[in-house]
Amino acid sequence: MKVLLIGSGGREHALAAALKRDPLLEELHVAPGNPGISEIAICHATNTDDNAAVIALAESLTIDLVVIGPEKPLVQGLSDDLRKAGFAVFGPSQAAAQIEGSKDFAKGVMRDAGVPTARSFTCINQDEIEKALDTFGAPFVVKHDGLAAGKGVVVTDDRAAALEHALLSPRVVIEEFLDGPEVSLFGISDGKNILAMQPAQDFKRAFDGDLGPNTGGMGAYSPLPWAHDDIVEETLEQVLKPTIAEMAARGTPFVGLLYAGLALTTKGTRVIEFNARFGDPETEVLLPRLQTPLAQLLLKAATRDLKDHPPLIWSAESAVTVVLASEGYPTAPKIGEPIMGLNPVDGSDIFHAGTTLDGSVLKSAGGRVLAVTGMGADLTEARDKAYRVISGITLHGSHYRSDIALNASIAEKGN
Ligand code: AMP
Ligand code: GLY
Repeated sequence: MKVLLIGSGGREHALAAALKRDPLLEELHVAPGNPGISEIAICHATNTDDNAAVIALAESLTIDLVVIGPEKPLVQGLSDDLRKAGFAVFGPSQAAAQIEGSKDFAKGVMRDAGVPTARSFTCINQDEIEKALDTFGAPFVVKHDGLAAGKGVVVTDDRAAALEHALLSPRVVIEEFLDGPEVSLFGISDGKNILAMQPAQDFKRAFDGDLGPNTGGMGAYSPLPWAHDDIVEETLEQVLKPTIAEMAARGTPFVGLLYAGLALTTKGTRVIEFNARFGDPETEVLLPRLQTPLAQLLLKAATRDLKDHPPLIWSAESAVTVVLASEGYPTAPKIGEPIMGLNPVDGSDIFHAGTTLDGSVLKSAGGRVLAVTGMGADLTEARDKAYRVISGITLHGSHYRSDIALNASIAEKGN
C-alpha cells in the first residue's frame, strides 16, 4: 500500500512512525513533513493549502490512501476534492469537519444526538452575551464559534474579561462550567461504524501545576489508571456512536478521526469539544501503544469497511509524552535556535513538532519543538524514560513541564 500523509507536526511524525510499522505498507509519502519525518518517509515540499497541488502529487505517486493530519486542510475541503478525484481518504469532508470548525454546529449535533454536554447559548450581540453570562455565573466559559487555533476559548471568574473576549467574535458560545478531570478519547469512523481508541490525558496549561496560559498541549499519558473501567465502552455508546449516526442522518457522514474531549464531572461524562482529527500530543502517546496495523485500519475506515473489524489491540505498556517548547511559548515563541542532544533510549521516541534544517543544523521552527515519548511497565517507568531523554536535549530558552503524569503515577504506585 502507498500512503500519502498530510501535515508537518509531532502528530504527523507519530502517525508516520505507526504507519511504517504496518507490514502491508510499501511506500510512505508525507507533504510537507519535517526533518524528523524525513528520516522515515519521503517528504514532498507541496503546498498543502493548495488542494489541486495535493491531488497532482497523489496522482503522480499512484497513492492508495491519503491520511490528513491537521484541521485546516479538512476545513478547506481537501478530503472532498481528493475523493472527487477518486482517492480513498482518511479525514472528514468539509461539511463533516464543521464538528470542529464551528462550536455552534457541534452543539447542534450533540443536542440532536442526545450526547451529554454543557448547557449553552449561542450569542450574536452584547445583550445576548450578558444574559448568558448571568444565567450561568462564574466561572464563565466563552468560546468563539470558528476555528481559532486554541485561542478561542476563555475560562475566567472575571465577568469583564469574559465579556471582552466574547465581543471579539461575531458569534460566541457561552456555556456552563464543567468541573472534573479532562480526558481525550478518539474514535476511528468509516461514516457508519466507529472503533474507540484508549483514553489519554492532555496537559493544556503551559507550566507545572496547571498554571499559565492555555497551549496546544504540553504533554500526555495513557492509559489512565484512575479512570473507571468502562470509560471506553460508555463513551462509545453515549458519545461516539450517536454522534456518527447523527452526522450520517444529516447527510454528512463523518469518515475519519472523531476526537471527543470529555469532562468527567460529578454528574457524569460531558463532552467539552469535538475535533475532526487526531489530537496533538495525544497521538504521540497513543500510537506507540497501538498494535493494530495502522495503514490497513485507516484504509478500511476510508473505504467504509469497518463493520466487522475486531477491537483495536493495545500494548499493555504505559506511555508518557513530554513536549519541549520554545522560549516564550505560547505567547511569543522564539524560533531559529539550534537543537542538540537528541539521543533516544530503548523504548523512547523523539517526535519532531516544529523543527527545520539549516544546512546540517537542526533548529527550532515552532512553539512546540519536540515531543518525547517514553514507554514502560507503568507510568513511573514511562515518565523516567521520557524525562531522561528530554533532559538531555539542549535548546536555548526552552521549557517543558516536569509534572506530566506525575499525580497519576503516584496514585498508580499507591494502589
Ligand atoms: P475547547 O477548545 O472547547 O476544548 O476548550 C479549551 C479548554 O477550555 C478545554 O480543554 C477546557 O480546559 C476548557 N473548557 C472548555 N469548555 C469548558 C467548560 N464548559 N467548563 C470548563 N472548562 C472548559
Ligand atoms: N491536544 C489538544 C488538541 O489536539 O486539540
